[in-house]
Amino acid sequence: MDFYERWILPPILDLVMRRKDLTKYRRAAVAAARGRVLEIGVGSGLNFPLYGKQVEFVYGIDPSPRLLSIARRRAAASRMPVELLLGSATAIPLADNAVDTVVMTWTLCSIPDPLAALREIRRVLKRNGNLCFVEHGLSPEPGVERWQHRITPVWRRMAGGCHLDRKMDDLIRLAGFNLTDLQVEYAPGPRAMSYMYQGCACRNHSQISPEASPRCSDDFFCSIAIAAVTETAPAANN
Ligand SMILES: C[S@@+](CC[C@H](N)C(=O)[O-])C[C@H]1O[C@@H](n2cnc3c(N)ncnc32)[C@H](O)[C@@H]1O
Repeated sequence: MDFYERWILPPILDLVMRRKDLTKYRRAAVAAARGRVLEIGVGSGLNFPLYGKQVEFVYGIDPSPRLLSIARRRAAASRMPVELLLGSATAIPLADNAVDTVVMTWTLCSIPDPLAALREIRRVLKRNGNLCFVEHGLSPEPGVERWQHRITPVWRRMAGGCHLDRKMDDLIRLAGFNLTDLQVEYAPGPRAMSYMYQGCACRNHSQISPEASPRCSDDFFCSIAIAAVTETAPAANN
């Protein structure tokens, strides 16, 4: 993590992510959360005030110490106990089947290896648990998609590794989840940055099929991803 990412970007992210028009997505993402919750890329803790009474405990993981220090202040004011974990979603320091719900809001775009993170999420999620998410990603409009591919190499340097061109539903399925709910729409703002994937997913208990082919931004990355997922596909009773 360089100086920009450690010191400059975190307060900018905190400010930008407080946008009022994002609140309806946050509310929808946390609405189904219950029991023990893990928030992936918890950032500055903006979801804490939105959790309902059915949430007992929240773990929040993030690799940014500065964002976690802001989250710590918000956690102190929150109703439920919160434990903040410094680290990456690709190596979650929790046991298998540890949480009832995983919440992820605008994080999968920034994780360098999103499939590794999703597989970790699957590991720590209980058998009947839910992954509830809102993410921005690849638009279905070819004109917008072209711009997303063009802008991403520059954008990700400025925006903490954020990719504009990930097809979130395919990545989630590919990592061994069934989507139980998915809604897509443009939020207000530039189309390249505002195509939202909102939904819930549960663990797929059957073998992951390589035929569930992703429409991914990077064919090379996706062929490796399919091979990796196929190799490590969970047993049918997992
Ligand atoms: C756009 S911010 C969203 C923050 C927060 N989820 C929210 O809704 O306000 C993206 C977050 O992803 C986090 N992030 C980046 N790489 C990550 C990784 N490998 N594992 C977990 N979180 C990561 C960043 O530190 C940042 O907090």
